[in-house]
Amino acid sequence: MDFTLPDELRLLQETVREFVADAVTPRAADRDREAAFPADELRAAATLGLCGLMVPEEFGGNPVGSLGAALVYEEVAAGSPALSVTLSVHNTLVCGAVATYGQPELQAELLPRLASGEILGAYALTEPSAGSDAAALTTRARRDGDHYVLDGRKIFVTHGDHAGLYIIFAVTDPEARTSRRISAFAVDRDTPGLAVPRREHKLGLRASEIAEVTLTECRVPATRLLGNEGDGFGIAMALLDGGRIGIGAQAVGIARGAFDLARRYARERQQFGRPIADFQAIQWKLADMATRIDAARLLVWRAATLRDQGQPHTLAASQAKLFASETATFVTDQAVQIHGGYGYLEEYAVERYFRDARATVIYEGTSEIQRLVIARRLLSDSQ
Ligand code: CAA
Repeated sequence: MDFTLPDELRLLQETVREFVADAVTPRAADRDREAAFPADELRAAATLGLCGLMVPEEFGGNPVGSLGAALVYEEVAAGSPALSVTLSVHNTLVCGAVATYGQPELQAELLPRLASGEILGAYALTEPSAGSDAAALTTRARRDGDHYVLDGRKIFVTHGDHAGLYIIFAVTDPEARTSRRISAFAVDRDTPGLAVPRREHKLGLRASEIAEVTLTECRVPATRLLGNEGDGFGIAMALLDGGRIGIGAQAVGIARGAFDLARRYARERQQFGRPIADFQAIQWKLADMATRIDAARLLVWRAATLRDQGQPHTLAASQAKLFASETATFVTDQAVQIHGGYGYLEEYAVERYFRDARATVIYEGTSEIQRLVIARRLLSDSQ
């Protein structure tokens, strides 16, 4: 077993690390304070190929696999967790959806625009009465000639007000069983009847808004169907298997960013006549933080590698997401504690990481849902 990254992935990691240090981290606190979408940073990321991580080269992409994408999301999250979730949703959930399930003409139409960053992709599964119980969604898609007509309401749509394309899950056969009721569609922002009436104000990840998206008699060409009619729930889950690896990587990046700040502060901060890093109370915190971060990263890399190898990875993805997100909440909490009162102030970045980490144990499946998925897989002897 070899834990070193191949040269091309190490180069990718170094390139993104430099980009983040130069163009992302310096603006992250202002973006958060102003709840401003990081549009310039996203454009710059696109020029580096970071919007086409799941897009084949023939469509202008920069395909690096799930492991490569995990490296990108970790690096970006260490500077800006908000930009990281935007990249994860766009690449893994949306580009991945079109590249895997779109018809060839749809791929040719959308993938170059997604890869270049001309349009940003959003993933719209959740509804007011269908959160953890995703299969309970009620958005309807009725076939009408060579179109589908969509009606419904999606909430908690990441960067929902900046997207040019939405992956929308809607019921096409209300009588069918869960795995056949729902279909997935790629819907353009400018489709008549699609509106974004509301943006939420939230605890963290303020630079990555979440929005409500409504669909009122939205006519969508049947060519926008992903996979076959009735495939939607399986597609949503299979995409989330990848998405959860991405959120795991984001969580590792958040934890690493907070750890680096805490270690630096512990070395500099003097109390009782010496740096607080000299005290075992602080040393043990740092030891626990670093150990959990390394363990989380290994789980993320394992899940990503299984996905890249085409092996079953639902169990590994949920384990990675569960452990990494809980690591991020633990590490950011400890990082605030090491900073003492200063950690509670806006001018010290750890409070932002602390707030941002909180989302990772909720979105793309709460910790409770990850435990449910893990337990079901363990008890049915499946992966
Ligand atoms: N891949 C492919 N198919 C899958 C699958 C997977 N990983 N998991 C389940 N399926 C299939 C099953 O095989 C089953 O098919 P059959 O009936 O043909 O056997 C079907 O889907 C139904 O599966 P379940 O019986 O397991 O479905 P369920 O209703 O009991 O629950 C759940 C499934 C795991 C609880 C699921 O609803 C879930 O993951 N909930 C959490 C939702 C979630 O993560 N939302 C995130 C929103 S997106 C977001 O946050 C993005 C963002 O913007 C940041």
